Amino acid sequence: MKLIHLSDTHIGHGNNVQRMQSLLDDIAGLGNPAEYLIVHTGDLNDNSSADTMQQSRALLDPLAEKGWRILLAPGNHDCGDALHVDPARGALFKDTFSSYIFGRQPKQFPVLTLTDDCALIGLDSNEAEMGFWERWMAEGNLGDKQIAALNALLDRPDVRQRKVIVYVHHHPFFDAFAVRADVGDKGILSHLFNWNTRRFRRLKDAYSLMQCIRDRVDILLFGHQHFGLDYSAEGQRYGIPLTLDGSSSTATQMDTDRMRYRVIDVATGRFETRFVALP
Ligand SMILES: [Fe+2]
Ligand SMILES: [Fe+2]
Repeated sequence: MKLIHLSDTHIGHGNNVQRMQSLLDDIAGLGNPAEYLIVHTGDLNDNSSADTMQQSRALLDPLAEKGWRILLAPGNHDCGDALHVDPARGALFKDTFSSYIFGRQPKQFPVLTLTDDCALIGLDSNEAEMGFWERWMAEGNLGDKQIAALNALLDRPDVRQRKVIVYVHHHPFFDAFAVRADVGDKGILSHLFNWNTRRFRRLKDAYSLMQCIRDRVDILLFGHQHFGLDYSAEGQRYGIPLTLDGSSSTATQMDTDRMRYRVIDVATGRFETRFVALP
């Protein structure tokens, strides 16, 4: 089994429809869909309007009809925008993409998908932010209830006997680039903003999540910050061999970068990053 990790495709922004189509065409050329599982770690859409969601479905559906299995975790832009999430928008997203988010499973998180050799567990990192006071800033919050349910899932024998993959939208770690942008690289305002806010831009209950999954998960996938870095050194401190930030596959916020996605061999933990030329 190989995982294809997509994230933060932000359909509705710029020419991301064309960019996404190029990515999906590249994926369709990889070979037999039965050997792969596509995991999208959220912010599929740039905005949570019904029109944008329909555009995204029109991109994904033809691939699914050809036999490609796609799993999807909700991002803050799917349920609102960069600074807040909204319960009505979140509900619309879950309805519109129900077949990708829940498949045939009960419509609740964590959602478990079992294959012959893998147990894939999807989380909703917007779930505990939907109350009026919590929804602002869209930093991500799983909530105690979801983490308790995750804890119970990870104890199940049918999960423990497989490779366990957890996928979630929000970033569980504080720091991104070990070498931060210099003042001259980004401009003084951007530099000051990033420098002063970076330490807050992390899943609010990341500590509880990592306590729960430490030594019990083989692969942890997430997105949100668009850094696209390999966080395995951080994840290995929690006994998780492979931890990857999916970046923005359509490179929304990093216009000079190429489109990219990762293909991960679950058995070996090895992965390759495939680059796709701009259309
Ligand atoms: Fe994003
Ligand atoms: Fe996000």
